[in-house]
Amino acid sequence: TDYQTIKVERRDRVAIVTLNRPEALNALNLTVMQETVAATTELDRDPSVGAIVITGSAKAFAAGADIKEMAPKSYMDVYLDDWFAAWDRLAQLRTPTIAAVSGYALGGGCELAMICDILIASDTAKFGQPEIKLGVIPGIGGSQRLTRAVGKAKAMDLCLTGRNMDAAEAERAGLVSRVVAADQLLDTAIEVAQTVAGMSLPIAMMAKEAVGRAFETTLAEGIRFERRLFHSTFATDDQKEGMAAFVEKRPATFTHR
Ligand code: HXC
Repeated sequence: TDYQTIKVERRDRVAIVTLNRPEALNALNLTVMQETVAATTELDRDPSVGAIVITGSAKAFAAGADIKEMAPKSYMDVYLDDWFAAWDRLAQLRTPTIAAVSGYALGGGCELAMICDILIASDTAKFGQPEIKLGVIPGIGGSQRLTRAVGKAKAMDLCLTGRNMDAAEAERAGLVSRVVAADQLLDTAIEVAQTVAGMSLPIAMMAKEAVGRAFETTLAEGIRFERRLFHSTFATDDQKEGMAAFVEKRPATFTHR
């Protein structure tokens, strides 16, 4: 498929989606949203894809929602279109997603990175929710995901002052999975994606679903959910293969069944 604002590449079982609106620091306009959702939804349905990397440019992962596109909108425009709701579909993907963030990840850019399962940042990354400076608040889950990721102290600080966090602060706060040198970012993200994609896809989906449940439910219910999923892993060929490979001292070859 030909996209205007993103590029999609494949490397074995890994797909790489690159936001590509350099003239606007990858600001997330309607086209970027539609193309990113369409591309990732299609990749999610493809069992030969074991992990999806989402990245931007060296200067910007994404500098937020497109302010010029939003500026003239009325309440009725955004309410009736349910503006930004399509991004929720990214959180519904079952395939593991990895954000590779360099440069600005502000507003919607930070929110998009936080939707991903693993967040790898370059040492140049800057995270923030500067919406308040524009007279709005986060609209793609920032007030909720940031608070769950880093706690009230940092989330309130960022959402109320609009200041940015650098990569080191973001790592200390627990927002990012790993920080790497800028020139290592994409290689590291792809390597992580390849590791994940080398696991059994259905088991990786269950692991993702189980961790995700921690954000939606009580501890007792979450543990119960995990236990039932754990039991169901014994219905897969890949559990038989994974354990047999260990016993036989050889690498496992998963069939994703
Ligand atoms: C539209 C944007 C943009 C954005 C940058 N550009 N961010 N266009 N929407 N979010 C455009 C600029 O207008 C400019 O276009 C070009 O990209 C390069 O940006 P510069 O500002 O010249 O670059 P620089 O001086 O390096 O500054 C980088 C920056 C700054 C600090 C990231 O661009 C910035 O503050 N951007 C806005 C960040 C922001 O507020 N994001 C949150 C958006 S609200 P021209 O044509 O002039 O060259 C949001 C809400 C989510 O995400 C949901 C709730 C509503």
